[in-house]
Amino acid sequence: MGTDSPVITTATPDQLGRKVHDLRLSVTDRCNFRCTYCMPKEIFGHAHPFLPKSEILTFEEMVRISRIFVGLGVGKIRVTGGEPLLRRDLPKLIEMLMAIEGLQDLALTTNGSALASLARPLRQAGLKRITVSLDALDDTVFRAMNDVDFPVERVLAGMEAALDAGFAVIKVNMVVKRGVNEHEILPMARRFSGPQYILRFIEFMDVGNTNRWLMNEVVTASQIIDILHQEFPLESLPATYSGEVARRFRHADGGGEIGIISSVTQPFCSQCSRARVSAEGRLYTCLFASQGHDLRALLRQEPDDAKIAGVISQIWAARNDRYSELRSETTQHAPKVEMSRMGG
Ligand code: GTP
Ligand code: 5AD
Ligand code: SF4
Ligand code: SF4
Repeated sequence: MGTDSPVITTATPDQLGRKVHDLRLSVTDRCNFRCTYCMPKEIFGHAHPFLPKSEILTFEEMVRISRIFVGLGVGKIRVTGGEPLLRRDLPKLIEMLMAIEGLQDLALTTNGSALASLARPLRQAGLKRITVSLDALDDTVFRAMNDVDFPVERVLAGMEAALDAGFAVIKVNMVVKRGVNEHEILPMARRFSGPQYILRFIEFMDVGNTNRWLMNEVVTASQIIDILHQEFPLESLPATYSGEVARRFRHADGGGEIGIISSVTQPFCSQCSRARVSAEGRLYTCLFASQGHDLRALLRQEPDDAKIAGVISQIWAARNDRYSELRSETTQHAPKVEMSRMGG
């Protein structure tokens, strides 16, 4: 893909035989939304201590760590946040990541609020795929869920801009919460059918400790499928790659693809190949981790990439996470790092 050669040291599989294949790279812990299931306003208010600039990895540090991960076997990087488009000069980072030799896929998950102006520069920088989080088409419901009164029209305009800029397919992520937006499942399925979209319904998850998760607010994958079946006959599709988080379906009439991400009722830990690096350079081996491993200090002190690769490889080899498979009353209340902090 480019000229920047990675260090070659393949990582050993973890304790459950899983290899590292994906890197989720968070570029900021900030977000302009306050989705109630992710950054509730009462916790993430004006006084919330977001990371100061000195504690956030520079682009050069992010590219260095990414190159090391590619050497260890990572083929796909997904840029996340917080809201990644809030990171200044993001297209520059995309261009730098695209120069990493051996990287096969580079994707971004965004709330879409700034896509209208950034879709084109991101495309020109080489970004391959975009996923937009959108929980409702109804403006009132959407504004209540983002909790900053952000209008749905602006996200839809951002998605249009992304299609115009040349992204052929946009994935749309809808987190479904009982009593809040399950009545938007069918309108969303109608609107985002067709070849330009892959709509994914996500079970509300107990990530972090602040979103007041309750099992009875989860609309389960099978309930979502039942609602979809009222109007859309669906057929199952095989996974695109091993370890894919979404179960895939196609409209039986050929109207496009739908995914269901059922981390709560049908966990997919057994093939989990994802490493997460937060904006401050901590490595997390699970979305529900209570602590990470400081890579920033290493990046700032250790000039030898091979040594850093060795440390990461050891951390991965010791990994035995399978939170979603073990989920219980006890695990739910364990201390967990917030999703906006570790990158979703
Ligand atoms: P692609 O398959 O490349 O499209 O990406 P993705 O679906 O992995 O990424 P995206 O950022 O769109 O994530 C979709 C949802 O799945 C989000 O709610 C994530 O938090 C969730 N998710 C992603 N990876 C994991 C994981 O390893 N475990 C759990 N429990 N949820 C995950
Ligand atoms: N449960 C499920 N999905 C969540 N996301 C954020 N918080 C949660 C949660 N508690 C989703 C976002 C985004 C993706 C990265 O994670 O909506 O699409
Ligand atoms: Fe921001 Fe995404 Fe979290 Fe919503 S889900 S608060 S858009 S980081
Ligand atoms: Fe991977 Fe942890 Fe999610 Fe299981 S719960 S799929 S181990 S990130």
